[in-house]
Amino acid sequence: MAEDQHSHVPGSSPRLHHTTFTTLQLEEMVLWYEKVAGLKAVFRGDLGAWLTNDEANHRIALLALPNLKRPVDKPHTTGHHHTAFEYPDFDQWVNSYVRLRDANIKPFMCVDHGMTISLYYTDPDGNGVEIQVDTFGQWDKSKTWMSNSEEFAVDQVGEFFDPEHVVKARSEGLTFAEIHLRVRNGEYRPEVIPDVYLPEVY
Ligand SMILES: [Fe+2]
Repeated sequence: MAEDQHSHVPGSSPRLHHTTFTTLQLEEMVLWYEKVAGLKAVFRGDLGAWLTNDEANHRIALLALPNLKRPVDKPHTTGHHHTAFEYPDFDQWVNSYVRLRDANIKPFMCVDHGMTISLYYTDPDGNGVEIQVDTFGQWDKSKTWMSNSEEFAVDQVGEFFDPEHVVKARSEGLTFAEIHLRVRNGEYRPEVIPDVYLPEVY
């Protein structure tokens, strides 16, 4: 397709490839991303690490530049809120929750957004990391739901849930569709509704 000289939209679009964070604790960050999402360092040096868990040469880069300062009030400062990783199915997503919980890595917020059911963690630097599974199992369907559904138009956050209820429901034989419905009905709400702001880790 020819580029339209007068359009603000490019004729072809680049794909999202990676995100880069600066860090004061490179080692902890590398270990955390490997443990949480299976990212491995393609290259690791004194200045940083370049991590991937798929066919791309890197997806998350970490720069340990000299003279960095700790952020001030990161949860209430504009910028990055979270990076998201997606499991292809519900079982792998629940298994990830259980594995991390048993390693004492717990989400600060769990939300069924309608098109995804999502667990939110913070990395050692307080950056959000979302681990999600698509409730439709197909991106075109979840995209259509986001665009057109009354539910999303009314509420773009969704329903909070306690993941332990989800684990229990799965062990009792409920399907993903049944659990999703119960979460959306507010049946698995946590005792305390968490804050959508990132937790302060400093
Ligand atoms: Fe997200």
